[in-house]
Amino acid sequence: MADTNSVFPENFIWGAATASYQIEGAANEDGRGESIWDRFSHTPGNVDNGDTGDVAADHYHRWPDDIKIMKELGLQAYRFSVAWPRIFPKGRGQLNEPGLDFYSRLIDGLLEAGIQPFATLYHWDLPQALQDEGGWPVRSTAEAFANYADIVTRALGDRVAAWATLNEPMVSAFVGHMIGRHAPGHQDADEMLASAHHLLLAHGLALPAMRANAPKSKLGIVLNLQQHMPASGSDADRKEARLWDGNQNRMYLDPLSGRGYPQDVIAHYGRPMDFVKDGDMEIIARPIDYLGVNHYFRSVHRSPAIPDADNEPVTVQTLADVSEMGWEIYPPSMFDILMRVHLDYYFPEIYITENGVALPDRMNGQGEVHDARRIAYTRGHLLAAKSAMDLGVPLRGYFAWSFLDNFEWGYGYSKRFGLVWVDYETQQRVLKDSAKFYRKVIETNGAALELGD
Ligand code: FCB
Repeated sequence: MADTNSVFPENFIWGAATASYQIEGAANEDGRGESIWDRFSHTPGNVDNGDTGDVAADHYHRWPDDIKIMKELGLQAYRFSVAWPRIFPKGRGQLNEPGLDFYSRLIDGLLEAGIQPFATLYHWDLPQALQDEGGWPVRSTAEAFANYADIVTRALGDRVAAWATLNEPMVSAFVGHMIGRHAPGHQDADEMLASAHHLLLAHGLALPAMRANAPKSKLGIVLNLQQHMPASGSDADRKEARLWDGNQNRMYLDPLSGRGYPQDVIAHYGRPMDFVKDGDMEIIARPIDYLGVNHYFRSVHRSPAIPDADNEPVTVQTLADVSEMGWEIYPPSMFDILMRVHLDYYFPEIYITENGVALPDRMNGQGEVHDARRIAYTRGHLLAAKSAMDLGVPLRGYFAWSFLDNFEWGYGYSKRFGLVWVDYETQQRVLKDSAKFYRKVIETNGAALELGD
């Protein structure tokens, strides 16, 4: 990586992110319907400890205080998601006004505090009623999403600085329908492929109404992108890495860029793909204003197939440092992924919409959380992002994941990603050292990245 000046452009946006099911709680209040994550987390064996999002960080009730904390941190933008089952408890049909009012008040509160709202319409909490009709594997879910996106953007419009249609469609499709570790917990390649297509179609179908309803907002989609490296020079390892790159990156980036689905991935699954209808690929490739990139780590792949001389473990990059998630901590990956997206694709603007790390945080007797490794992680990834910007990558902002400790999906509350500590017994919030560090980074527009801890 080139040496970098850590001062960011003046209009760079510093933010933090959350998602509805992970922080809101109030699962049964004000007419909210059931989501697939309610159903999944309440089914024994799916989530560590039997944790659910029923209460979570109780943000639904505590949002005014949470905005005060955001202000204290100096956040310039806040990325949150809208819970579809708060707006349409059954996914479509009867609108639930109190759900819409909640987000309207939140947005007004943010604007009053001088914080730009960045809203995501779908961060995985599909209304269970739509799952009962087939969920993402069926086309009508994409149509229901377009209707939901229309109604929400009509009500909230360009009070929201940037709208994202979907968060990480790959995770919905692949982890939800192929691996089965996320709701709805299925393991079926046909469902995975159909879900990927209908998620992307939902995104494209929603765009025209969103544009009309929110002409001044930026519109985009958020993908989880990650470098996939072969563990050796063997053909088998390279093939494995290439397949994962296809599954995770190209399967979404290619169609969004008007290139259709990557043929190597489609050939690998060898399914009919007969759910792709005439005109769908044009709808999916409708222009967007920005790409949101969630980036946490890279992966190094060893083919399980051939234990020959070229496939010896000695060539595997050792995982020098791993997070509580078992994810490698390797900050240069941020540079690599941004350069890759910039070189291989074209998006007018890019935001890092999530980046962060789960660590074994502890509160000490003085009520402090010393998370020096999160500071180092944040610094390393931001400096790597700045190096990419110095080479022309149109990166316009950074959102730390996460503003608060929260419900980490299948891991429940056992994994803490927050800049702000949450005591789940009392719902007390405490700034971790990393939050104070991030405040300094924001105040100095990046210059503090060069200072020691
Ligand atoms: C991302 C999700 C986010 C959070 C982080 C750790 O995949 O978008 O909700 O769980 O991972």
